[in-house]
Amino acid sequence: MRILAIETSCDETAAAVIDDGRFIRSNVVASQADLHRRYGGVFPEMASRAHVEAIAPVIDAAMADAQAAWDSLSAVAVTKGPGLPGALVVGVNTAKGICLARDLPLIGVNHLEGHIYSHWLETDTVGEPASFVRRLLRSASPFPLLALIVSGGHTELVLMRGHGQYQLLGHTVDDAVGEAFDKVARLLHLGYPGGPAIQKAAQDGDPQRFTFSRPRVSLGAKTVRATSDAYMFSFSGAKTHALRLVQDYLNADGDLAPRAPVSDIAASFQDAVTDWLVEKTARAAEAFDVKAVLVGGGVSANKLLREKMMARFGDRVSFPPMALCTDNAAMIGAAGYYAFMRGVRDDLTMDVAPDLKLG
Ligand code: KG4
Ligand code: ZN
Repeated sequence: MRILAIETSCDETAAAVIDDGRFIRSNVVASQADLHRRYGGVFPEMASRAHVEAIAPVIDAAMADAQAAWDSLSAVAVTKGPGLPGALVVGVNTAKGICLARDLPLIGVNHLEGHIYSHWLETDTVGEPASFVRRLLRSASPFPLLALIVSGGHTELVLMRGHGQYQLLGHTVDDAVGEAFDKVARLLHLGYPGGPAIQKAAQDGDPQRFTFSRPRVSLGAKTVRATSDAYMFSFSGAKTHALRLVQDYLNADGDLAPRAPVSDIAASFQDAVTDWLVEKTARAAEAFDVKAVLVGGGVSANKLLREKMMARFGDRVSFPPMALCTDNAAMIGAAGYYAFMRGVRDDLTMDVAPDLKLG
């Protein structure tokens, strides 16, 4: 079964052709990062207009890369939310147009579900032994699984008891972790997007120089109640702490003095926020006795996070390959396939859902 998938929820215009929910025939992403860099973040109105310009060429490129004929498609999957309303509309209306013209079923996909399903995409090189988690996901009963979604807009711990069955265990009570990376990068004048910039600056820094807040971990009884404090995240304290540290080094023009300890702040911040992610995930993984942990979303590209997660969970944690961590349409095709198999169908009255939740 071949799906054309479309993603326009934020600042990437993306299209992919996916076979049987697993095989990536093409995966095209046009990033708007250069456009938004000068604003230090995503400028929604500009994002919508850039999607309008890019969507048709990106879809053409995805079909051409896959050498896919239009009549080889079985369905069109598109991100319907969460995301920027004006950006989502471009992808959703394009998908509707294709479905109308080619008489194809339409599948509206939750973007967060896409990040989770990026783990089902086939990425092993031929002949390479598949990892524990990849083998598990191909088995008949991989559940329960724990997903940690860490992106620019979300920080969520989700328990998955079956395909399409999500229980939100915990979330951030303030900023999303990617948003915290982006804001601290801006404070440190490191540019946009902030995550990769902080990671780079932190390489030469001392992660112990500044003490950022860490989660309180009590080693008492197991918590099995969803959305209890045990599984909640908070990153605004780290952001405020970075702001206080930076203020001592600002000159009258708002520029950072060259002697500002940028790499030490970056390293200390990164060390603390990755501890938050690992500690909370470990608590939930233990309490719900999950078979594996799936980390997805832009921040899952972070090297230190990967190292700490692997130290804690060994081969029971899985990260998407770098190209599938940040927003892409291949993951929407994978999630769309499993939704289609569960009988999910949308029609041409489908609206965008900017605040769509999982579960
Ligand atoms: O999933 P994504 O591409 O878009 C959203 O759905 O939000 O995530 C983007 C976020 C940005 O905040 C970016 O700074 C962060 O992912 N990010 C990283 C890294 N690469 C991207 N954060 C930390 N370390 C990285 N290497
Ligand atoms: Zn995303």
